[in-house]
Amino acid sequence: MSKPLNSMIGWIDKRFPLTSNWKAHLTEYYAPKNFNFWYYFGSLAMLVLVNQLLTGIFLTMSYKPDAGMAFASVEYIMRDVEFGWLIRYMHSTGASMFFVVVYLHMFRGMMYGSYQKPRELLWLVGMGIFFILMSLAFTGYILPWGQMSYWGAQVIISMFGAIPVIGDSLSYFILGDFTLSDAALNRFFAYHVVTLPVLLVTLVLVHILALHEVGSNNPDGIEIKENKDPVTKIPVDGIPFHPYYTVKDIFGVIVFLIVFCGIIFFAPEFGGYFLEHNNFIPADTLKTPDHIAPVWYFTPYYSMLRAVTVNFLWIDAKLWGVILMAAAVVIFAFLPWLDRSPVKSIRYKGPIFKFAMAMFVISFFVLGWLGMKSPTPLYTTLAQIFTVIYFAFFLLMPWYSKIDKTKPEPKRVKK
Ligand code: HEM
Repeated sequence: MSKPLNSMIGWIDKRFPLTSNWKAHLTEYYAPKNFNFWYYFGSLAMLVLVNQLLTGIFLTMSYKPDAGMAFASVEYIMRDVEFGWLIRYMHSTGASMFFVVVYLHMFRGMMYGSYQKPRELLWLVGMGIFFILMSLAFTGYILPWGQMSYWGAQVIISMFGAIPVIGDSLSYFILGDFTLSDAALNRFFAYHVVTLPVLLVTLVLVHILALHEVGSNNPDGIEIKENKDPVTKIPVDGIPFHPYYTVKDIFGVIVFLIVFCGIIFFAPEFGGYFLEHNNFIPADTLKTPDHIAPVWYFTPYYSMLRAVTVNFLWIDAKLWGVILMAAAVVIFAFLPWLDRSPVKSIRYKGPIFKFAMAMFVISFFVLGWLGMKSPTPLYTTLAQIFTVIYFAFFLLMPWYSKIDKTKPEPKRVKK
């Protein structure tokens, strides 16, 4: 390093822990050497987060959070603002890609038991991130004030109204009015551009700190910290994060950007999955669209909301739907305590766990597909069956993860 640069870093180091943090989190953070494909998605989630923050700032410069002007301001961004179309497509595609990478990131955690001890808190922080991400997607989708923004939000807000006793006051509190109107649009805008992004960025920092405290898990699910070189005290199965994984992650970023650009330039609406056709029609408070469905990443939960058709105990069907839908998301947070398996990674878990996991994945996809369709008696029955399978994966886990035949974990990671 050149002398002036060296002395400048020395000057900073006396006033701020720059080099020590660089070492602790990059050059001397030892990650397992067997990271595979599934370990790309954490860094990709960070990339998408930065994309959303930057493009969001530029969108905010021209967007108008006013029920009378919002839709037209988005059209103005698309047609008149210099590169406005690009910024908007980067943001809308980024929203869907955020869910793609976060779902894959969570799935990796489930495959390799990354939620198990000592990473329970890391997993819970991840769950916090997931809730915030869902809230960001929901509030963001309302902003263009198209038919789907309006009626989609109407469906979700009416869920709060289903809660007994406090339901009506709660929806009044959320909306700031008796109906979904300008007041609600204004406050959702405030949440979307200030409150939720600040919370998300804070939680992501906490997530990384928690990860670096306990160290990364890996596809073999063994703790590399337990096997250190007696002289150097470095895990024998670890390699410095920088440069090894920074280079690996850059490869992931390039592949991701190719896909991302392909969507933005050739299929930005992605056949109505990323930007729904009905949302190109301005919100009409008097005309309900024939078919209301949320964006793809919410459809598995939306299916569960619609799956309950009968009143049960003293609770009516609609409220059961809301409870099920909320439970379907919250239940992930309990995974560290539901999984009783003595091994972490699916590589060493037995056939029952593998079968249960496969059924879970199938139910997630089928529910996602059903959530996009208009309900018919057959679809509703299917949604009920797959909702039961979805919950069975979690609720029966303490039992099947214990009785399942596991294989012994290796002492060293496999390359
Ligand atoms: C904005 C969203 C998120 C970002 C930016 C993010 C970032 C990261 C990064 C950079 C890593 C280390 C690299 C890697 O293991 O891939 C990581 C690890 C991890 N994340 Fe996330 N994450 C996010 C959301 C989540 C969510 C929603 C969960 C689960 C509920 C989660 C659970 C985990 C776990 C368990 C690990 C450790 C995995 C292991 O070591 O095997 N993360 N995250």
